[in-house]
Amino acid sequence: DKAGHKHFMAKEIAEQPTVIAQTVQRYLGAEDNAITLPDDSLDFNTISRLSLVACGTAYFACLTAKYWFERLAGIPVDVDVASEFRYREPPIPAGTLALFVSQSGETADTLAALRYCKGRAARIASVVNVPESSIARESDLCLPTLAGTEIGVASTKAFTCQLTVLLLLALRAASDRGRLDEARKVELLDGLRALPNTLNRALDVSSTLEDIAQDLAEAQDILFLGRGLMYPLALEGALKLKEISYIHAEAYASGELKHGPIALIDTHMPVVVFAPHDALFDKSVSNMQEVMARGGKVVFVTDRKGWAAGQEGVWRHAIMPDVDPILAPILYAIPAQLLAYHTAVAKGTDVDQPRNLAKSVTVE
Ligand code: F6R
Repeated sequence: DKAGHKHFMAKEIAEQPTVIAQTVQRYLGAEDNAITLPDDSLDFNTISRLSLVACGTAYFACLTAKYWFERLAGIPVDVDVASEFRYREPPIPAGTLALFVSQSGETADTLAALRYCKGRAARIASVVNVPESSIARESDLCLPTLAGTEIGVASTKAFTCQLTVLLLLALRAASDRGRLDEARKVELLDGLRALPNTLNRALDVSSTLEDIAQDLAEAQDILFLGRGLMYPLALEGALKLKEISYIHAEAYASGELKHGPIALIDTHMPVVVFAPHDALFDKSVSNMQEVMARGGKVVFVTDRKGWAAGQEGVWRHAIMPDVDPILAPILYAIPAQLLAYHTAVAKGTDVDQPRNLAKSVTVE
């Protein structure tokens, strides 16, 4: 049942405020500011390192979480694609928490990587959307995402729920380790509680993104750029677009541009830049100007302050509601998903069942 939407993907994008509210409520009391995990024996003071392993979109959730765990909790983090991790047979230092992220909980490579960590890692945890899945059952600690059944092959609501759980876990780690002062903690938890509202306002920008998508649908190649927390999101935006519109897209950390990919820029290649007005904003704008100086057509996804400061020469733009920079990846996932969705619809591709893809990859 698509609940009045044209595609399951559209329905699942629209459901995000609701399912994120459910996920936040699962871990965070309405009154107190304690973050509760299903098993309270996990004390981050005993964890010296995190190893995050996943595939595809879930891998990009892990890349985002690296910034959170490092910045908020001061824990070193490694992130790996499961298919590489399992055959590399990496040494697992003492004190490692191995964390596996998977919507289906059945991805063959992620499950194999989890089994490799058994007996090696101090603890095995997972962030999974299907509670009775193999990955959930085989981990010491399973942190559910409450996204509900995801039918569209391209992951949307499962991704933002993964981000939500990972951020809550990073905040719990920061709390355990005494790295987060109370005022900042309350600010971030209130931001998480307000997120469903903020996401609804981001969904209101859909028609602007639909408009931009009519032009993107003409492109052969599209570049996505971001810095800091927006870099993994740029990767996710490019993956989403490739999967459902079949347009070639790549993502780079904006600072990497001049080390090679800038050679690609010409008037035919749209460049989508995710850049809220955060600490790295000025650097993002100067990277964007480098693109425009070479004739590149920039789609600028930013907030009001960012638009006021960086609009010169921009081709198309979308303005997101204001949000704490730590929460921005969850909010900016919405325009990334909607750009892909509307571009695919404009091209007339099969949005919910893209060619060559399966919802759950249970073989290598
Ligand atoms: C992308 C997508 C895939 C999955 C990947 C992992 O839209 O859906 O990249 O994220 O196959 O799947 P799970 O999360 O089930 O392990």
